[in-house]
Order: sequence, then C-alpha cells, then structure tokens
Amino acid sequence: MENVYFDSAATTQLREEVVEKMTSVLKENYGNPSSTHSYGRSSKSLIERARKTVAGILNVKASEIVFTSGGTEADNLALNSAVRDLGVKRIITSKIEHHAVLYTVNQLQECFDVEVEYVNIKSNGDVDLDDLENRLKSSDKKTLVSLMHVNNEIGNMLDLKKTAELIKSYNALFHSDTVQSIGHFNLDLNEIPVDFTAVSAHKFHGPKGVGFAFVRRNSGLKPLIFGGEQERGHRAGTEGVHNIVGLEESLKLAYENLEEEKEYVSSLKKHFIDNLKKEIPGVKFNGACEDFENSTYTLINVCLPVSQEKALMLLFQLDLKGIACSKGSACQSGSEQGSHVLNAFLSEEDRKKPSLRFSFSRFNTKEEIDYVVKTLKEFIED
Ligand SMILES: Cc1ncc(COP(=O)(O)O)c(C=O)c1O
Repeated sequence: MENVYFDSAATTQLREEVVEKMTSVLKENYGNPSSTHSYGRSSKSLIERARKTVAGILNVKASEIVFTSGGTEADNLALNSAVRDLGVKRIITSKIEHHAVLYTVNQLQECFDVEVEYVNIKSNGDVDLDDLENRLKSSDKKTLVSLMHVNNEIGNMLDLKKTAELIKSYNALFHSDTVQSIGHFNLDLNEIPVDFTAVSAHKFHGPKGVGFAFVRRNSGLKPLIFGGEQERGHRAGTEGVHNIVGLEESLKLAYENLEEEKEYVSSLKKHFIDNLKKEIPGVKFNGACEDFENSTYTLINVCLPVSQEKALMLLFQLDLKGIACSKGSACQSGSEQGSHVLNAFLSEEDRKKPSLRFSFSRFNTKEEIDYVVKTLKEFIED
C-alpha cells in the first residue's frame, strides 16, 4: 500500500464535483461581485445563492451567514466583537479549545479589560457542565461562553443544545466552534440557542481558505476587517467567489449523503478500534472515542504502549510507510510542549506515552486500516 491518508480532521480531499464547480466559476465568473454590471451581478448572485443554500441546511436566515477566510477568522470575528462591541467583560472557555479560540482569548485578555475563566475538564475529556453552571452563577459581569461542539483532537462531543440552553438561562452569550461538526452532523440552529458559530469548508471536502460565521440576527456583531461593504458590511474584501461556491457544493453534498457516509465512516472507526484492541495489547483510547454516542465518528485518538525513545521514531516510521496521521501527544521530545488538549486531562503517566490521532473520511477503506494496524504492530514488536 503506497499512501494512506488518515488526517481528515486536519484537512480533507476535495470532492470531484467541487473541483468541477470551482473550476467553472474560476473560468466563467470573474466579475467582481461589487461591480454593478452584468459580470459583477452574476458573481454576486452566486454568492447569494450559496448563502441561501448554507442557511437552508442550518435552518437559519441567509442574512445570518457571513463568509470568511475559514474557521479561524470566524472564531476571531465573534470573540473580538463580543468584547469590543457587545460589552462582554468575562469569557468562560476551556483549555481544550482550538488555538483559534485560545490564542484569540489570550490576546483579548491582554488588550482589553476582560476576565477569562477555564471550565473544568473531566478525566474522559468532557467539559464539566456543573462547573460551567457554577461559574455562570458566580458573577453578574456580561459573559460570553466559548465551547466547541466536537473536539478536533479527541472527538468528544458537547451536548450543544443543553449547553446553549444552560448558558441562555444565565443571559450569557454563546459562541461555539463547530469546525469539526458542521458538515458531519445535522444541526438545526433554529432549535439551538447559540449566538455565533464558526465553520470551515476544508473539513468537509471543500476548498481551503473559506468558511463562514453564523451570527444570530440582531446580535450587534461588528466586523473584524474593514474596507468595503461586502458581506452586507460584516466583512470587507473582495469575495473569493470560486471558494464560496466550492463551500456551497461541498456542504450540499455532505448533507445529501450524510446518513450513508456517517454509517460507512462509523464502521471504519469501529473496525479501527476493534483491530487495535485485538492486535496491540495495552493500547488505550484518549477522550471518549470508544463511546460512539458521545464522540464523533470521524476520528480516534490512540495512546500506544511504547517507550519514550521509540516514540520519537514513530511518526517518522509511519511516514516512511506512506501513512499520514497526526501526533496527538505530549512529551515525546524535550523541546515540545505536546498537545494542550491531552495535557488538560491525561494523567502524568499517560502524557509520557505517544498518542496519535487517526481521522477518517468517505475515501478511506478497511484495507487501509488493516495496513496501519499491521504497521503499528510491527513497529511496537520490533
Ligand atoms: C476545531 C477547529 N477550529 C478551528 C480551526 C481552524 O479552521 P481554519 O483552518 O479554516 O482556519 C480548525 C482547523 O484545524 C479546527 O479543527
């Protein structure tokens, strides 16, 4: 087997249909969407159609969708404006958020008069909602909570509706990074009282460099980027029309085939877990990945029974064998700090062992999994 790609949580392969749509837009629709002539109007109409498609899938209004350069920008948009424009004085988040949230929150703490609190994480990587409630109760300061829906390293899922309702009952704002969930799970944002979410097309077989923020109507959110009236004044800059159309097509296809693909990819995850347990005694799974109800079907995070010296060679060896996955862990080399997510809840002992994240898509097969498990077994036994 030559190349095996198990890093779909980092990014995914484009669907062929998406490439075709984007190529056609690149060739045919080069008008600037802000121009009033027919070239411009045709580009603009593609963007507005994409906005309606996306809004329809999430059951929200088209005016609540702001196209951005991706998930990072969408997170930045919500967090920055909440502090600068909406009077937020306290942010409650967690240590297992993506850096797009954590680093933005650090920056806001440095530059503005905003308090930051981190909610407790349980030993299985779940957010402690009782602790969240106690924190919400404890202060009258205007608060924004930022908690992700699906964790990108360990796959744990937050009960988004329950969490949103809890947060609303304390009159706080709620931002959720849904980069690893929208495109993989059905979400009706009309039913879930979240104020802001962030989405990225390259996580569901769409192009890189495009995503969107869902911004609840009348929230008062102001732009992060100034310089033009694009995105109804919410985000300046000439739109990447081909990217927005690519996002539309990939999201549409993701939801058209959702149940079928979910079932297939879940069967890959099960096959992976079962085979690892069978072939590698002492293997452990970080977070809740063995709990199929409360974790995403798209990834597993595996802690391998390997010495620290050997661990240093692991990713290199896998790469040599054509296997692409992500390092999920901790103290494999003195100079690295390791995963901030695993460090937030793993025991000292488990943090020393190598952990790997394997993440899947519809393009993977069981044969590929067998090859990876065989390669890992040989490496460990060598
Ligand atoms: C949970 C999460 N949030 C945000 C991002 C950043 O998204 P983007 O690459 O579109 O900026 C990622 C991508 O790795 C992610 O997994």
